[in-house]
Amino acid sequence: MRKNILAPSILAADFGHLENDIRETVNAGARFLHIDVMDGMFVPSISFGMPVIQSIRRCTDCTFDVHLMIEQPERYIEDFKACGADSITVHAEATKHLHRVIQQIKSCGCRAGVALNPSTPLSALDHVIEDVDMVLIMTVNPGFGGQSYIPQMTDKIRTLRRRLIKLGLETDLQVDGGIKPSTIREVLAAGANVCVAGSAVFGAHTAERTKELLAIMREYTVWETD
Ligand code: DX5
Ligand code: ZN
Repeated sequence: MRKNILAPSILAADFGHLENDIRETVNAGARFLHIDVMDGMFVPSISFGMPVIQSIRRCTDCTFDVHLMIEQPERYIEDFKACGADSITVHAEATKHLHRVIQQIKSCGCRAGVALNPSTPLSALDHVIEDVDMVLIMTVNPGFGGQSYIPQMTDKIRTLRRRLIKLGLETDLQVDGGIKPSTIREVLAAGANVCVAGSAVFGAHTAERTKELLAIMREYTVWETD
């Protein structure tokens, strides 16, 4: 059985106190950290890169789930592995050679994820679905934290989970964008099992908010939880 996993996104943390913010969510029970890398090309904004990831690698041993919102991610896979990534997710829209980059991620020892923007159909996964460890359904348009969940994504999540079950695959289904206490039940019920949350975790009361989301995730017994 797949586990339900909360992946706090450090994009919403205070970069002046990143280590403290990470410690707070990890001590409250988070086992994953979602790390958003943006290049100002694939998405309008620029976030951070390898030096930041390398620095925070020293403060925690939790799983680093690196979400690359960059053009031609194949240029940097080994670098992200070297600075501490455990899982690397690339966007199907960002590379001409999706199959090749998935193999590249796996051959450097990382788990491989593929992300789809809200308007990208599930058919983009057709010939790679059996090769990936995780599919990321973007539930906002990527580029910024703090946006609202796009309700049409619920059907997309449900359809994908049904397709995975039909294929006998236990692939992780991650959702990212607008996930908070008022939207998380909907995505869990539709079949998501890895929930990214940025602004709903970091800020004031990080520990309490982490615990609240973890508690909701535990209500969903279809999946084994941490
Ligand atoms: C958006 C990023 C997200 C972002 C989510 O492009 O991929 O991971 O941090 O932020 P919230 O949870 O605030 O919508
Ligand atoms: Zn993300």
